[in-house]
Amino acid sequence: VNDANSAKVLNSEFARRLIERKRDGGRIEPEDWRTLTGAFMRLEVDDGQLAALAMAALLRGLDLEETVGLTAALIESGDVIDLGLDDFVLDKHSSGGVGDTISLVVVPIVAACGVRVAKVSGRALGHTGGTLDKLEAIPGVRTEIGPQEFAAIVREVGCAIVAQSERLVPADKRLYALRDRTGTIPSPGLIAASMVSKKIASGADGIVYDVKCGNGAFMKDEASAGALARLLVEVTTAFGKRSAAVVSPMNEPLGPAVGTALEAIEAREYLSGRRRDARLHELVDVIASRMVELAGLDRARVHQALAGNGPYERFIAMIEAQGGSRAALESLTPDPVTAEAHAQSSGYVAGIDAEQIGELARELHLRGGSTAGVRVALRVGDPVEAGQPVGTVYGGGEEEARTLSRAFTVSVSEARSTSAMR
Ligand code: URA
Ligand code: CA
Repeated sequence: VNDANSAKVLNSEFARRLIERKRDGGRIEPEDWRTLTGAFMRLEVDDGQLAALAMAALLRGLDLEETVGLTAALIESGDVIDLGLDDFVLDKHSSGGVGDTISLVVVPIVAACGVRVAKVSGRALGHTGGTLDKLEAIPGVRTEIGPQEFAAIVREVGCAIVAQSERLVPADKRLYALRDRTGTIPSPGLIAASMVSKKIASGADGIVYDVKCGNGAFMKDEASAGALARLLVEVTTAFGKRSAAVVSPMNEPLGPAVGTALEAIEAREYLSGRRRDARLHELVDVIASRMVELAGLDRARVHQALAGNGPYERFIAMIEAQGGSRAALESLTPDPVTAEAHAQSSGYVAGIDAEQIGELARELHLRGGSTAGVRVALRVGDPVEAGQPVGTVYGGGEEEARTLSRAFTVSVSEARSTSAMR
């Protein structure tokens, strides 16, 4: 007990010195990050100190070396997966979006191009959706899959999407939850360390990052999103891995569907070629191209794959390997209880509040389950007449439809579309 107490006192003193140093604009060395994460994993540094340090880091900033040091310390807090695959293995990661069906779609496309994709995903966080929840909306599909089975599925099918295990970067899990409660998420250094540590620990050889930018994202403007994109690549390079980063707009939901089963259905329709939303396609094309290019292939492969049924068959093979079935995917349908949202005035759609729609979808899920959600019918820049349908609520009624209407801002003059992307 005495040893444990003295360790707490010593580590608390140590943490206080780090907080003061960062507060005053000093730097934190790699060994200090390592000592700190070790201590807070043993619960010898309390949440108050960790939160103060996160806030000091957010306000003062972390330079590249400090960010790399924190990333390394986070990785060392848990296991590093070795998939034991000789091929080049890719992963992709988004900084968190609304209606972001990209992962479900690009993973099987890239696998159909002949590149292995071992994707480790997170769950829904705040107003942003989680790829795992979307996949699990397909009856039977499992995502809690251990490293050996994960590697086996990637080897046999070419791709898998699994949950981050408890043993992968546990220090980030605790730090992230604390940042979520203390307003310290939008720090480029902290975000980069959080994202890159998880990707390196999950065994990827190459990573494509999708940095969201706009009202529905943590990075609200182009300049900070661009800086985060560059930082992600620099930090990943420091670990000897190949990477690329894309900045994509989040001033409106990315695809038309916002909801777990609704997005799984959107992915099914896209991959089977029955319905390809233009906005979704634009970003799918960019991300899938960057991924195959990282593996040394020509981006033309993506278009060739999309012309055939390879991606859809890959998607089904992955779903089957993870416990689902073709029939379960094909019979997936939205909640039959629906209400239409209507435009409140005439003009042009000037904005669609992605965060508000993400929150609405989350509430609908809490009450109506996975087949509830929202579909938006218009995009930013579209002309609109008062009373025209702007979207549909699944698993909700008139009140939720009014909330959806209010997420649309209509202006009398023509608005600029936000589809520009780097
Ligand atoms: N996504 C992450 O994984 N970590 C962050 O800090 C922000 C977004
Ligand atoms: Ca490898």
